[in-house]
Amino acid sequence: KTIADLGDLRGKRVLVRSDLNVPLDGQSITDDGRIRASAPTITMLSQMGARVVVCAHLGRPKGEPEAKYSLAPVARRLSEIVNTPVAFAEDTVGPAAEVAVAALEDGDVLLLENLRFNKGETGKTDAERAEFAGRLAALADVFVSDGFGVVHREQASVYDVAKLLPHATGGLVESEVNVLRRLTAEPERPYAVVLGGAKVSDKLGVIGNLLGTADRLLVGGGMVFTFLAAQGHEVGTSLLEADQVDTVKGYLERAEKEGVEIVLPVDVVAADSFSADAAHDVVAADAIPADRMGLDIGPRSNELFAEKLADCRTVFWNGPMGAFEMEPFAEGTRALAKTLADITAGGALTVVGGGDSAAAVRQLGFDDSQFGHISTGGGASLEYLEGKELPGLTVLDSDEVSDEVSDG
Ligand code: 3PG
Repeated sequence: KTIADLGDLRGKRVLVRSDLNVPLDGQSITDDGRIRASAPTITMLSQMGARVVVCAHLGRPKGEPEAKYSLAPVARRLSEIVNTPVAFAEDTVGPAAEVAVAALEDGDVLLLENLRFNKGETGKTDAERAEFAGRLAALADVFVSDGFGVVHREQASVYDVAKLLPHATGGLVESEVNVLRRLTAEPERPYAVVLGGAKVSDKLGVIGNLLGTADRLLVGGGMVFTFLAAQGHEVGTSLLEADQVDTVKGYLERAEKEGVEIVLPVDVVAADSFSADAAHDVVAADAIPADRMGLDIGPRSNELFAEKLADCRTVFWNGPMGAFEMEPFAEGTRALAKTLADITAGGALTVVGGGDSAAAVRQLGFDDSQFGHISTGGGASLEYLEGKELPGLTVLDSDEVSDEVSDG
């Protein structure tokens, strides 16, 4: 169901789960992409005359309030973006939230404090989450699920609350799923996936699944050293997940059998320490000195990756190619973003997945419009491509609303 299926929302209290988990430097938001992506649904509901109660999380607090994880700065930014005042409740389901919800008039927007200041939000079992979900549901008449970045989480505000209120899928979740569906169901070929970022273990599931769908898999970032080690190379002091080497070896063999081309860097930028002013130079990927760590893919690899992507009609990219936050190690990520922007201009469908990769391309001076789609979900988009069932999506398929709905 979409928002239109919920009928006339004028005067109705609509609880919207958004993903407003943005990077902060103190009180200042360093990348507001997720707030911008969440704004259209909020604006639309407000214009429909709904009383909009937005809920979201920030970071990973442990079920207790912590000032550094407050959503207050996000409320201010959201207000600027939706161009309407956004009230802020200093708790999530407590007295402040109740008073603030009761004060809403048609078209008003309220943001509740960080959901994860409450243990019930991330409780492991249905029972642990039930009370909190009930209190959240009591604040609203209907629920709109629009936080794509959290649909892989079985959490109170994503999953349980949808069983307690009539619900609909928000426009952001809808558009994200529509794009990702194009990658899983008959992508235009050649279809390449580029994976980077620090941890190979986070991406093992998706790699396994991609071997059945993608034509090429390009690997960079910290995770590539586990691949190089699996090929028998020394990786110096680079990031290495030794316990994953055998699994990666298995993937390399499978890829060969299934005709999936795995493309690894041929050179890397190797440094003597993990810092912006480290001594560094370019070395061959199979000759990393014992006292050096690879912090970016090298110039020949950038060319190789550009070549392997040039004829692709579909590309999914998750994870930076190097430690891009430090200028000497940003070139691999920049070059890749440039290649993707070029092939997008040539008509290919490019999808950049994940908060970190999205923030990286923006920080490096690219604009969202240079890519086919920038997904707000990192873990969520990977799990979607992995073929996993995402609890926050499956729960929306059922129209059943539990009898335990609180009467609010
Ligand atoms: C994200 O940043 O990927 C989402 O906001 C989900 O956050 P989480 O990984 O802390 O659940």
